[in-house]
Amino acid sequence: MTTNGNDRSDEAVHIFPDGFLWGTATSAYQIEGAAQADGRGASVWDTFSHTPGKVRGGDTGDIACDFYHRSEQDLDQLGRLGLAAFRFSVSWPRVRPSGRGAVNQRGIDFYRSLVEGLLARAIEPAITLYHWDLPQSLEDEGGWANRDTAERFAEYAEIVVEAIGDVGGMWITVNEPQVVAHEGYRIGLHAPGHSDDTLAAAATHHLLLAHGLALARLREALPGIRVGITLDMHPIRMLGAGAEEAASIADAEQNRIFLDPVIHGRYPAKARAHLLPPASLIHDGDMELVAAPIDFLGVNYYSPQFVKLAVPGAPRPEETPVPGMPGIVTVKPAELPQTSQGWVVEPEGLYDLLVAVAAETAPGCSLYVTENGCAAEDYATPEGVVNDFERIDYLYGHLAAAWRAIRDGVPLAGYFYWSLFDNFEWSWGYQKRFGLVFVDFSTQRRIPKRSAAFYAGVARANALPVSTSGSSVEASGTPRGELVDV
Ligand code: FCB
Repeated sequence: MTTNGNDRSDEAVHIFPDGFLWGTATSAYQIEGAAQADGRGASVWDTFSHTPGKVRGGDTGDIACDFYHRSEQDLDQLGRLGLAAFRFSVSWPRVRPSGRGAVNQRGIDFYRSLVEGLLARAIEPAITLYHWDLPQSLEDEGGWANRDTAERFAEYAEIVVEAIGDVGGMWITVNEPQVVAHEGYRIGLHAPGHSDDTLAAAATHHLLLAHGLALARLREALPGIRVGITLDMHPIRMLGAGAEEAASIADAEQNRIFLDPVIHGRYPAKARAHLLPPASLIHDGDMELVAAPIDFLGVNYYSPQFVKLAVPGAPRPEETPVPGMPGIVTVKPAELPQTSQGWVVEPEGLYDLLVAVAAETAPGCSLYVTENGCAAEDYATPEGVVNDFERIDYLYGHLAAAWRAIRDGVPLAGYFYWSLFDNFEWSWGYQKRFGLVFVDFSTQRRIPKRSAAFYAGVARANALPVSTSGSSVEASGTPRGELVDV
């Protein structure tokens, strides 16, 4: 996760391998809305977003993109984009409202019609089983800090695969367990909002165990199913000398704490003790379950992290101290662009990450970029156009990096842009727009942005037009490459 690959290619066009899977990604709580509909139970995100002060502007996912009621039209829109895959998540509390006990048939029916709608349009489903919406009743019993939640998750995985597994597709057990444990249990910025190292360390192990138990259950229920897990990964960049140890600890705590168990069956020794699950929680056989072979690893990449020695004296405004590591800070280098959310844009980080991860995964395990994208200050002009050139540039840079990784031997089999729509961006609410399709949340009107036409053109050509200027946009303001009518 710390290698460097700075070469730029001069080829006139970056052609992707045949069958490269082009998709977009979403998640249930962020798009579905219909929070009270058809027997859905409450999730931790319902509780959290309805707690004053937790989400910007008091936003909730009650309505979101109303995808639950508009999925037919939205699938038509997906069809016009011509992308081969759609990543969505199944809402656990819609399928099993209390997390245990009775199954909600109306929830199952929704996902059945969704996957059939996708297949009818020749779009491959990429099904995430857990994208953060834990049934509230399980949280009331300790949530991910309670081992029992992992067992309940495996049951739920089996219910879903029995209901819709016959459609094939790709199956992702858990999305970004690191974010769940850290933001949800250690620092409290996400649901369920705990700030407790002990709970977070327990959640770390139980999320991994949930993956392992579900993996075994899915394979038993449906031999031949394609299953993996999605991890958020952050290349750690060291600026200047002296922060080597801090960089390798940061790598262990942000990347290897989930990657190593899945790939190697052990926790990274470099992580500090209070982040690691205590031995008493790790039962015999757990690590074997967690490290059972997967068909693919999903990588979510947004930004690298830059660590350095603090300048002695008073902390500088651009330096953020790293808790528990005196003298070490993170920074956002001034020369690098940032998205409207303040996330540093560095496409080379994607290249480095893919190369580093591929060097460790087992032969035969493919990689997918299951999320990558940027939030921008998008707005619709009076003519109803969204000129999001910033997003086109973002896509362009990251797709070129993905292409270089493939050229250099990485078994990258697909790329999912986050996200199809503007949606509920967790504690940021609706303020941060990541979509290829603009959503006017007051009317639910959808407007495909310029980036949607650009991305559809790349997918159709299975190639990225390469410009010598390094920009995706011509001087005329027109994106390079084929623009598809979406
Ligand atoms: C990831 C999440 C996804 C979305 C993007 C911007 O961490 O998996 O739901 O919020 O960030």
